[in-house]
Amino acid sequence: MNNFIYDIPTRVYFGENQLGHLGEELSNYGTRVLLTYGGGSIKKTGLYDKIVAEIKNAGLELFELSGIEPNPRVSSVNAGAEICKKENIDVLLAVGGGSVIDCTKFIGAAAFYDGDAWDILMQKVSVEKCLPIIDILTLAATGSEMDCGGVISNPETKDKIGLLFPVMQPKVSFLDPTSTYTVNKYQTACGAADMLNHIMEVYFNMNQDLYMLDTVMEGLMKTIIKYAPIAMKEPENYEARANLMWTSSWAINGFVNGGKRQAWSCHPMEHEISAYYDITHGLGLAILTPRWLEYTLDETTVSKFYQFGCNVFGIDASLPQMEVAKKSIKMVKEFLFQTLELQSTFTEIGIDDSNFEIMAKKAVASGGLGFAFKPLNEEDVINIFKMCI
Ligand code: NZQ
Ligand code: ZN
Repeated sequence: MNNFIYDIPTRVYFGENQLGHLGEELSNYGTRVLLTYGGGSIKKTGLYDKIVAEIKNAGLELFELSGIEPNPRVSSVNAGAEICKKENIDVLLAVGGGSVIDCTKFIGAAAFYDGDAWDILMQKVSVEKCLPIIDILTLAATGSEMDCGGVISNPETKDKIGLLFPVMQPKVSFLDPTSTYTVNKYQTACGAADMLNHIMEVYFNMNQDLYMLDTVMEGLMKTIIKYAPIAMKEPENYEARANLMWTSSWAINGFVNGGKRQAWSCHPMEHEISAYYDITHGLGLAILTPRWLEYTLDETTVSKFYQFGCNVFGIDASLPQMEVAKKSIKMVKEFLFQTLELQSTFTEIGIDDSNFEIMAKKAVASGGLGFAFKPLNEEDVINIFKMCI
C-alpha cells in the first residue's frame, strides 16, 4: 500500500428520527442559518416543515435559497454567496442530493470571495475558508455528504468542473434512509450506477497489495447489486435504502482509495457529457462504464477483471481468465441496462457524435486520464464515446 493520510472530519447521524440533533448541531456554528435546497422535493415530502420546526425550536434565524438545479449552475453559487454576505450567515444547511450539497459547498467558499464564483472553479483564486456546512441527504448517489468535493456547471461555457477543497468537507451529515423513500425508480437507478462507478474507478488498478481495500470494495459493489433492484421495486424498504445510503458515502469518502495510484477514467468523460447535454450524471456513467471496461480489457489488465468477475459476480473461477473477464463485463451491462432499466446508448438519449472531439479534448485536459487504469488520450476517449452510440 502507498502512504496516505486518512481523516474524515464529518459527524454522521445515521438512521431515523435523528433530526432532534439538528438544532444543537447548527447552534454550534452560530445563529444565522441559510437553508439551501433544490426544486421542491423537500416540500412535497414534508421534510421542509420538519426542518423549519427544528430551526425555530432552537431559536435560530432562517434564510433560504431554493431552486438549486440538478447539475448545479454557478449562478446558484453566486446567488447563495450573495445572501451569505448580505445577511451575515453563520452556517449553511444543505438539504437534498449531491447537486444541492455540491452547490452549497461552493456557496460556503464563495462567501469569502468578492467576485464571480466561477473564478474559484477556474482556480484563479484558492479556497482557504468556507462557511460551516451541515447537510441532510435525500438521495443516495454521489457521496458528497462525506467528501470535500463539488461539481459545478457553467452553461455559458459548457463546462462542468469538479474540485476538492478540505475546508468544504461537511461538518455534520444527517443520513436518514427514510428520506430517500420518495426517490423515484430512475433516480434510484442512476444513484446506484454512480456509486458503483465510484468504486470501480478505484478498484480497477494493477496494484497487487491492496487485498484489504479490494475486499471492502467487492463488498460495497455486491451491496449495490443486491439492494438497488430491491429499492426500485419496494421504495420504502428500509434495509435496501439504508444499505444503499451508507454505501454511497463509503464509496467515495476517502477510505477505499487509500492505496490507489492512478486517476479516475469515466468521471472526466461523463462530466463532459453532462456539461454539453445536461443529462443525469449516473445515467452518463452507466452508458460509459461497460464500454470503458471493454476498451481497457487486454492481456495486461485481465487479472483484475478476473478477480472482479469471480468475487463480485460469482463467476466460476476455474474458467480461463479472459472468459471470466468478458462474462463480468456482460454482467455489468445486464445489471445497468436490464436490472436498473437504464438507457444503454447515447443515441437513445439524443446524443450524437457532433461534440465528441471537443468533449474528448476537454476530458483529457481536465486532468489525469493520462495516468488512469489504462492511460487514455483524446483518440481513446473518442473511441470510447463512439462505442456508446
Ligand atoms: O431538486 P429536487 O426537487 O430536490 O429534486 C431532485 C432532483 O430533481 C430529486 N430528489 C432528490 N432527493 C429526492 C428527490 N426526489 C424525490 N425524493 C427525494 N428524496 O432528484 C433529482 C436529482 O438530484 P441531484 O442532487 O441532482 O442528484 P445526485 O445526488 O445524483 O447529484 C448529482 C450531482 O452531483 C455531482 C454530479 O456531477 C451531479 O452534478 N457529483 C458530485 C460528487 C461529489 N460531490 O463528490 C461526485 C459525483 O461523482 C458527481 O460528479
Ligand atoms: Zn459520480
